Amino acid sequence: MNLVVLGANGRTGTHVLRLALERGETVTAVVRSEAKRPKLQHKRLRVVVGDPCDPAFLADAFRGQDAVISTLGGRMPTKRATSVYPDSADAIVQAAWESGLKRVVVTSTALLFPARRWRDAMLAALVGNVVKSATRMERSLAASNLNVTVARCGFLTDDEHATYRALEDTLPVNGSSVSRAALATFLIHTVLRQGSGYRVYGVSSLPKE
Ligand SMILES: NC(=O)c1ccc[n+]([C@@H]2O[C@H](COP(=O)([O-])OP(=O)(O)OC[C@H]3O[C@@H](n4cnc5c(N)ncnc54)[C@H](OP(=O)(O)O)[C@@H]3O)[C@@H](O)[C@H]2O)c1
Repeated sequence: MNLVVLGANGRTGTHVLRLALERGETVTAVVRSEAKRPKLQHKRLRVVVGDPCDPAFLADAFRGQDAVISTLGGRMPTKRATSVYPDSADAIVQAAWESGLKRVVVTSTALLFPARRWRDAMLAALVGNVVKSATRMERSLAASNLNVTVARCGFLTDDEHATYRALEDTLPVNGSSVSRAALATFLIHTVLRQGSGYRVYGVSSLPKE
């Protein structure tokens, strides 16, 4: 598969790159500056530098590619930082139609599921920009007619365990966190299945014993 990875220098994105290359895929890693080039080098890895919210740039990066995984996300819960969710989604949709790419897998937040505990409702209120931006991202992708899978997750950790649980339209019980390694494994497994329509999964690590 020819796979594009957005947010390729990020923490989850780095796992995605490694896993995709280990599985024999050909990868185009998108980063937004020369300084962010992944350290990883591989004969099946191409790095392109540009703005993942620019549809014309993305359309060029998407030509001849089968699928895109986006692990883009704001590093702060501000309106400006979280705008990367909807801005990149709009660019992905436009670029996908221009280039013929059909398969899209993105990361989002489990705060978009109905809150099970008062703590989740409090957190959603505290990071309202994340919730609003993720909602706009998901609406835009849902309206696109592309084959889209959204991975909604709770707190990300750097635990190295890569086993995940994933359920459609809900977060697994006691699944409020997921390791980036496990999330990346879900993203790769998912993109390799062709998928159809618009699907949302809650993704978690295994519960602590
Ligand atoms: N942290 C959590 O607990 C948590 C919870 C739920 C969901 N998530 C989501 O899970 C995904 C992976 O998270 P992570 O912690 O692995 O990500 P991360 O390490 O913070 O990486 C985020 C990536 O997004 C890029 N990015 C951010 N703003 C950008 C912009 N305006 N333009 C272009 N690129 C931009 C970053 O590029 P630069 O390095 O150039 O900034 C980086 O490649 C994200 O979608 C995140 O929102 C995280």
